[in-house]
Amino acid sequence: MNTLARTELRQRSDYTHRFNEQAGRHGWLRLTPAYSVRVVDELMDRYDGAARVLDPFCGTATTALSAAYRGYEGVTTDINPFLVWLGQAKTAQYSNADIASTQRARERLICRLRQGNLEPVKAPPMHNIKRWWSKEALKFLCVLRAGIEEESEAKSPERDLLLIAFCRTLIDLSNAAFNHQSMSFKEDGQLRLPIDADMEHIFCEGLRFVLRGAENNPGGSGKVVLGDAKNLPEVVDGQFDLVITSPPYANRMSYIRELRPYMYWLGFLDNGRDAGELDWCAIGGTWGVATSRLSNWESPQLSFNHPLLDAPLREITLGKNKNGKLLANYIAKYFNDISAHMKSLAPVLKSGSKLHYIVGNSVFYGILLPVEKLYAALLESLGFEDVDCSAIRKRNSKKELFEFDVSASWPG
Ligand SMILES: C[S@@+](CC[C@H](N)C(=O)[O-])C[C@H]1O[C@@H](n2cnc3c(N)ncnc32)[C@H](O)[C@@H]1O
Repeated sequence: MNTLARTELRQRSDYTHRFNEQAGRHGWLRLTPAYSVRVVDELMDRYDGAARVLDPFCGTATTALSAAYRGYEGVTTDINPFLVWLGQAKTAQYSNADIASTQRARERLICRLRQGNLEPVKAPPMHNIKRWWSKEALKFLCVLRAGIEEESEAKSPERDLLLIAFCRTLIDLSNAAFNHQSMSFKEDGQLRLPIDADMEHIFCEGLRFVLRGAENNPGGSGKVVLGDAKNLPEVVDGQFDLVITSPPYANRMSYIRELRPYMYWLGFLDNGRDAGELDWCAIGGTWGVATSRLSNWESPQLSFNHPLLDAPLREITLGKNKNGKLLANYIAKYFNDISAHMKSLAPVLKSGSKLHYIVGNSVFYGILLPVEKLYAALLESLGFEDVDCSAIRKRNSKKELFEFDVSASWPG
């Protein structure tokens, strides 16, 4: 390995160390920004003894994990089966025996990699896969994936922990760069990884990081359920004291698209059509078939209406851009879905329970969509009390974009 490669690896491992100190399991796949963990932790600090905490939009299970670390019961739902798997692995309790058997599985795996007698799995059928990984990296990942299958039992704690380390590795070896909200590719010739990087070492470092997080078991419990937040009584049992959640933002970002490398490698996706179908079920999804369906989407008669929504919808539809109608449909459907979600909350809330929605506003072609005010209006229209919006932070260089905490209480 050349000096540049060694320095880069050292820097990465310093970074890993610092991140681990701050984030533990929260940072397993580097998908959860540290500030999100902080916001959730600070909110949870306000509620002493919040026994049952619900997050209807699990994502990387920040709320459920934070609740479990405080000794509470954290329950969370997501429409994406990959995130449900990840959330279950993050909130699980790992015994010393689980950690030790994962270490033994790693040793067997490394032996097999060095012996070179593993039959590689097929590379996943991702569009333009060569853009993601060099030939060498792809070959290594196919062999590593095969070794994990052979050296750990399906659905065991060892398998989950090895697969999380595999997920870290596939991103470390890729040409993808994670910006704040979405993923992009490094230009050719500016690959993230030095050509002669030690891929086996990168995997082992990733696993070390994962195992350190796994050692620190939460005192409470976490339950992660696959289901639709538009129909909560069918998905979760009992009632909750506190809801802390960050719903999808109305910003056309597709979580399925962003997570596709993990989802394809782990077998949660095997074609673009299914990816689009899944995105269509997700609130705010816009990938593939989800976009084509949006063009013909008709808002139902009892859809959510509000002057703060009608005005931007009209301006966007009549504006000069050619996608105005599609975009207006996207926004109308988004609020329709969020309204269905909020309507499904009442049966699962205890009287006097508190809610916090961490949500950002949006700007489309210079037209501001006051998402936080619309959330507040929706909650008020459904009988929630003490509804309040407070700005938490500025989101990026666009001066209008902020993140808000929209809070309320349920009188029951
Ligand atoms: C902003 S993310 C949540 C971020 C999360 N707080 C975290 O820390 O990672 C929104 C999540 O909502 C999920 N989602 C979208 N539509 C959904 C639906 N109808 N039911 C349940 N989850 C949904 C997405 O899959 C995504 O994981």
